[in-house]
Amino acid sequence: MDKMFANVFRGAGKFGIEEVDRPHAGVGEAVIRVTLTTICGTDLHIVRGEYTVRPGLVIGHEPVGVIEEIGPGLSGYQVGDRVLIGAITPCGQCRACLSGQLSQCGRTSGYEAIGGWRFGNTINGAQAQYLLVPNAQANLAKIPDGLTDEQVVLLADIASTGISGAESGGVRIGDSVVVFAQGPIGLCATAGARLLGAGLIIAIDSDENRLAMAKRMGADVVLDYRHVDVVSEVKRLTEGGSDVSIEALGTQETFENCLRCLRPGGTLSSLGVYSGKLQVPYDAFAAGIGDYRVITTLCPGGKERMRRLMEMVKRGGLDLTPLLTHVFPLDKIREAYRIFGERLDGAIKVAIKP
Ligand SMILES: NC(=O)c1ccc[n+]([C@@H]2O[C@H](COP(=O)([O-])OP(=O)(O)OC[C@H]3O[C@@H](n4cnc5c(N)ncnc54)[C@H](O)[C@@H]3O)[C@@H](O)[C@H]2O)c1
Ligand SMILES: [Zn+2]
Ligand SMILES: [Zn+2]
Repeated sequence: MDKMFANVFRGAGKFGIEEVDRPHAGVGEAVIRVTLTTICGTDLHIVRGEYTVRPGLVIGHEPVGVIEEIGPGLSGYQVGDRVLIGAITPCGQCRACLSGQLSQCGRTSGYEAIGGWRFGNTINGAQAQYLLVPNAQANLAKIPDGLTDEQVVLLADIASTGISGAESGGVRIGDSVVVFAQGPIGLCATAGARLLGAGLIIAIDSDENRLAMAKRMGADVVLDYRHVDVVSEVKRLTEGGSDVSIEALGTQETFENCLRCLRPGGTLSSLGVYSGKLQVPYDAFAAGIGDYRVITTLCPGGKERMRRLMEMVKRGGLDLTPLLTHVFPLDKIREAYRIFGERLDGAIKVAIKP
């Protein structure tokens, strides 16, 4: 068996580069040589032991690369094609996929909650020299000529997720939108609200570097929650409450503040991953009869989603390269996790070059 280097999870706090078997493509599969990937906040939860995956798994779920092997059953692709693959790899054939719920893909059967997220979760992932792509016909998105790996790598996960926060929230032209937290996901939600034509975008965080980036991504007003009463300031700026509040952190406090900022009939679009109990206080919820909508979204994937996002980059409407603050070779991945995890040196996203 030929070998490759990959970042292997071994248990809480234990991970690093190992030599492992290189994958080969079976029916309906492809192998790509990874040319660029990155580290997600979710990978931090994995290596810290806060989200469980099986020891021995190669982690990472944001791949850009070149097709190396094409398994039987694929059409329209050639070895050497440059491709982007979403973090979520729907099968394209199950009940969930064919009903339009690609991220909750159940593969051969019906729906499976979060079932579309396989890379670095239930199958080997992208922080490696080579990656086996399942259901490749539904997931290999060819990169248009002229776009660099750096221009598209963040579309696989954080941009698809963040922008979906604005889409699921039903942002309309002229809407007021407040985005709680300006981590990579929140910054992309801010960019998404701008793309959809929001009138006023208010971005909340406490990190000066990230608040400055929020302005670059399209925020009109940035608020540091340590220094202002965010809810009353949003109510004042929006003259009564936001049309859409986007939650991009995953805490009780930010979820609740999202609700409290909304105008009656507004939409809370939630992207955060919560732990423990999440409560809805009756007063923030108009006792249940305020005509609110609460919607949650898992990162949309599949090749059509990737094509649409790349189209926005190609047309000049979306530039995420300022978010890629650092780059490391694969063999320095532990250092990359440290810089990213501790947010050192202004890190927002780090690129990994296998
Ligand atoms: N829905 C999805 O598909 C999906 C995908 C990936 C990640 N996520 C989730 O999205 C969330 C955000 O991810 P990320 O990588 O951008 O997070 P991150 O940890 O990198 O950033 C969080 C940001 O929140 C800010 N913050 C902390 N407390 C705050 C407060 N009270 N109010 C406002 N801002 C505050 C921090 O300063 C930081 O900038 C996480 O819960 C993550 O698990 C969801
Ligand atoms: Zn992720
Ligand atoms: Zn499916």
